[in-house]
Amino acid sequence: MARILITGGEVLSATGSQAADVLVDGDEIAALVTPGHFASMAATCERVIDAKGKYVLPGGVDVHTHMELPFGGTAASDTFETGTIAAAFGGTTSIIDFAVQRTGEDVHDGLAAWHQKADGNCAIDYGFHQIIGGVDDAALKAMADLTKNEGVTSFKLFMAYPGVFYSDDGQILRAMQTASELGATIMMHAENGPAIDVLVAQALARGETDPRYHSLTRPVEMEEEATHRAIMLAKVARAPLYIVHMSAREAVEAVARARDMGANVFGETCPQYLYLSLEEHLSKAGFAGAAYVCSTPLRSREEGHQDALWRALRTNDLSIVSTDHCPFCMKDQKELGIGNFSKIPNGIGSVEHRLDLLYQGVVTGQLSLARWVELASTTPARMFGLYPRKGVLAPGSDADIVVYDPKGVTDISVKTHHMNMDHSAYEGIHVDGRVEMVLSRGRVVIEGNAFTGAVGHGRFLRRGLSQYLL
Ligand code: URP
Ligand code: ZN
Ligand code: ZN
Repeated sequence: MARILITGGEVLSATGSQAADVLVDGDEIAALVTPGHFASMAATCERVIDAKGKYVLPGGVDVHTHMELPFGGTAASDTFETGTIAAAFGGTTSIIDFAVQRTGEDVHDGLAAWHQKADGNCAIDYGFHQIIGGVDDAALKAMADLTKNEGVTSFKLFMAYPGVFYSDDGQILRAMQTASELGATIMMHAENGPAIDVLVAQALARGETDPRYHSLTRPVEMEEEATHRAIMLAKVARAPLYIVHMSAREAVEAVARARDMGANVFGETCPQYLYLSLEEHLSKAGFAGAAYVCSTPLRSREEGHQDALWRALRTNDLSIVSTDHCPFCMKDQKELGIGNFSKIPNGIGSVEHRLDLLYQGVVTGQLSLARWVELASTTPARMFGLYPRKGVLAPGSDADIVVYDPKGVTDISVKTHHMNMDHSAYEGIHVDGRVEMVLSRGRVVIEGNAFTGAVGHGRFLRRGLSQYLL
């Protein structure tokens, strides 16, 4: 088995940092030792990586991606191949994507379809959540099978998108009760879909067709109300609850209140809500704002949502930053909504930029290094049954390792990114810090600007239950 020694770096974890050398043996981490302790072993290693002046941290775990997701008459533009290579460039070494079941379809068929898309095509390890778009007896039975036998232990429900993915309150309660019995996790898209559909129809009837009306017809109250309702339903079902892609301060406050009361409720946000806004991005002239259509929508910067999200990341009212990577090109994809914002496919791609964008919280003093690692790697791994295989650098853990240069700079642009998109939502943004090298299960997959891994190296992750169960 090939050995790699990473020397001289500052090794980061969710609890702090230490000067240490990291010995990798095959797929796994063999040891963390005092710097220089293994110097005599260097000659027996296939490679010695000098990480002096660099951070050495566990690979990122992005628990919310949508490769190849069919949506709005088209499909997300990254395949598992292009999307996982892009993820690796950004220091993410595991993704959890969403297999889809729509109303009337069989859950197992949905999962099988996702295995077929991903199998042999991933550059990094991957797992699946299951979207349940039609809660009925068969779907509830399938939830048990997936949890016990398939390594799929989390299920996404939608309070939005009536007629596509939507579940009513009775369906949600039944799925939560089932999850509670199984120890599975319910992930919730919390927006009041039926009410939003009324607002959308009214806006279109008034001739309000530009992309920014996507946000104006999905007001904060629709996210706040749905978040509160989901929390109440989870309380009745005695189920833990994970709310995805949160953007509104008031909704985060509902999560914080529930957590203060002792409820096992968790919130996730995404880079787009920390950086992009209704005023500066979604309201760009002409159709340019379409690039920023996603749900929940971008919010008003003036109303202070971004500041509230950063604060909640610091205080642990929000637990995880994922990307909700759901890329669509402008050409032929976002363009489907010219003249009607409701036809713009929902989603923003950023699987490549999560670690860098979140690191800016460290640069600006809002997050500690430990919190950066916790939000991007350790908590995601623990929340979704991957820890300690992923999310930590410790003996026996998978050797998923990022060497990060805090003195480096990353320029984000469509010209340099590796995602299969004809634009970048972060075009022209220069950020401090740079992913220098990435290992996936002991193999160097990124070195500087080069992908040195292999498509097919990524393995399916059979996940256990969340470590946040009570
Ligand atoms: O706009 C988004 N978020 N697109 C992906 C689907 C979802 O709801 O997560
Ligand atoms: Zn969603
Ligand atoms: Zn999503």
